Amino acid sequence: MTNAMHKAAVGVFDSGIGGLTVAAEIARRLPEEDLIYLGDTARLPYGTKSAATVVRYSERAVDLLLRYPVKAVVIACNTASAHALEALRKHTDLPVLGVIEPGARAAAAVTRGGRIGVAGTEATIRSGAYQAAIANALGTSREALGDRVVTRPWPLLVPLAEEGWVDHPVTRLTIETYLAPFVEADIDTLVLGCTHYPVFKPLIRQVLDDRFRGHPMTLVDSAEALTTELATLLAEHDLRAPARDGRRSFFCTDAPERFGRVGTVFFGGDVAPVFSVDL
Ligand code: DGL
Repeated sequence: MTNAMHKAAVGVFDSGIGGLTVAAEIARRLPEEDLIYLGDTARLPYGTKSAATVVRYSERAVDLLLRYPVKAVVIACNTASAHALEALRKHTDLPVLGVIEPGARAAAAVTRGGRIGVAGTEATIRSGAYQAAIANALGTSREALGDRVVTRPWPLLVPLAEEGWVDHPVTRLTIETYLAPFVEADIDTLVLGCTHYPVFKPLIRQVLDDRFRGHPMTLVDSAEALTTELATLLAEHDLRAPARDGRRSFFCTDAPERFGRVGTVFFGGDVAPVFSVDL
């Protein structure tokens, strides 16, 4: 039997455009689901802001999604997941999924040598959320992890991605510089802990080959792990949509034309129609 909840949308929230990498993965794997995406482009970046501000902005954004018929909320933004997930879970009765825990579980599952790196925004790294989630996934304490988990902020990749410089010499040099400490620490698994980083996966692999003699490093994209957990959650709650072509609606809080244009790099397809909203 199909009821209104089966047909309700999955709400996806990000600080801006980057979360479209997560929306793209959900659309690819769960094409029957309607998606309502909100990017808070007026307030981006979240990655340089305090925890209190990230929580406040995130609550307002989720309030907007809740005005629509949604059955689950995905926090695609790593920074918001790191700082606001608990607050958002108290804010609504709907299931709320963040990207940190799925990413951490995926890293713990694939690491061969047990040496895991995490790259993210300054706020995500500062929160310690990935370290805690990885320790949890490995069934150990943060203290016991010692130096087996190495974390570093990669702030410059956010504007480079938004510029569309996914294979530019400047980006190549930046990635080379950012990868060096992870290679030095002999990391075998790297969590791409920011919405913007998955677009650089091919370049990261190339730089590892060209500059670091093919240092083996499994790249973990939280979007893939999150989508698997979303599919399981919807099935467990009997909330999967019936077979159909899901609709996608995009909202942003500023510069909708830019959102639609730059968004195609992240979404890998047309981002339209885009509606402008105020929170
Ligand atoms: N969406 C943010 C994240 O994944 C990156 C952009 C920002 O700083 O707002 O952490």
